Amino acid sequence: MTSNNTTPTDKGFATPTASWFKSTITLEEIPKPALDLLMSRTGLPLDKVVPHVNEAENCYIHAKPDDSKRNKAWKAAPYPCVGLFMFLELNMSRHPLYPQILSRLRNNEMKSRLLDVGCGLGQDERKLNFDGVPAGRVYAVELEAGLISAGFDLFMDSGGEEISFLQGDAMKDEASQWMKKFKVEDGFEIVHTGALFHLFDWEKQLVIARKLVEVVQGKDDAVIFGCTFAAHEAGLRSLGPNKEAQIFGHNEKTVRRFWKEIGESSGTSWSLELRFEWMEPTKSAGLAKDGKWGGAEGNGLMWFSVHKV
Ligand SMILES: C[S@@+](CC[C@H](N)C(=O)[O-])C[C@H]1O[C@@H](n2cnc3c(N)ncnc32)[C@H](O)[C@@H]1O
Repeated sequence: MTSNNTTPTDKGFATPTASWFKSTITLEEIPKPALDLLMSRTGLPLDKVVPHVNEAENCYIHAKPDDSKRNKAWKAAPYPCVGLFMFLELNMSRHPLYPQILSRLRNNEMKSRLLDVGCGLGQDERKLNFDGVPAGRVYAVELEAGLISAGFDLFMDSGGEEISFLQGDAMKDEASQWMKKFKVEDGFEIVHTGALFHLFDWEKQLVIARKLVEVVQGKDDAVIFGCTFAAHEAGLRSLGPNKEAQIFGHNEKTVRRFWKEIGESSGTSWSLELRFEWMEPTKSAGLAKDGKWGGAEGNGLMWFSVHKV
């Protein structure tokens, strides 16, 4: 990560030769839950879904410099979550806490609301809705407006059917700005953030986490959950041959220290639950061309949830 105030997309990630780039996807490679979601949302039959996904992907991955679509989303494209079709993994729904989150959000007496920060194409929001959560309880912030709009193309649901999407910057915006724009002045009970923290160094992660804590301020049963890159040896590392693109890996010790620091600086207290998924090492230290995300020995994914105590 760069030390100045640039976002991860400004440097490093925006390379067409990145190893986290895969040009097309086949039916067999689309996870079943994503296929079900895509077919339900788009109304397309099975044989039309794959060409549609590849076409939607091409809109922003393969955009040529003179293509007007380039302006829409090229800047948003270079992440592995887009380049490797990882948005089809539906990360939020793979979280160990997802069943509990679903029942809370479906509960008409609780009327809990969820905010997703760094939502990408908004796939997790549509999955929540597919799983029975009223769209009006789902809110999402994403830095790149092009990604929000690419989500409308992918799911063919312009407007997102009452899911509230907002272009916003978790590094720079005030939490109160989001709440005002969403007209949710009293905040959210549940906050999700998938694969966002690892784009930033420790200090910037603190800025984001404090914002998430502000978003749930005053809510006794608040929960913040998500996933982030894990590494036995914590810290920033290069994502591939391009040294500018870096990713931060947490281990159990560092993530506990991180949330302790958040608690101390915000006058709150959090209990942390973790599950690690260690990955098969790939040949290159980074992301492999075959779409497997692993990298060096000792890399993985951490599913975390913090509950206010
Ligand atoms: C690795 S992707 C993960 C997307 C999605 N949450 C998922 O799990 O597939 C990280 C997302 O965070 C967004 N992002 C990066 N910096 C951000 C910021 N400062 N504020 C809000 N979103 C940001 C990126 O544009 C990208 O969509």
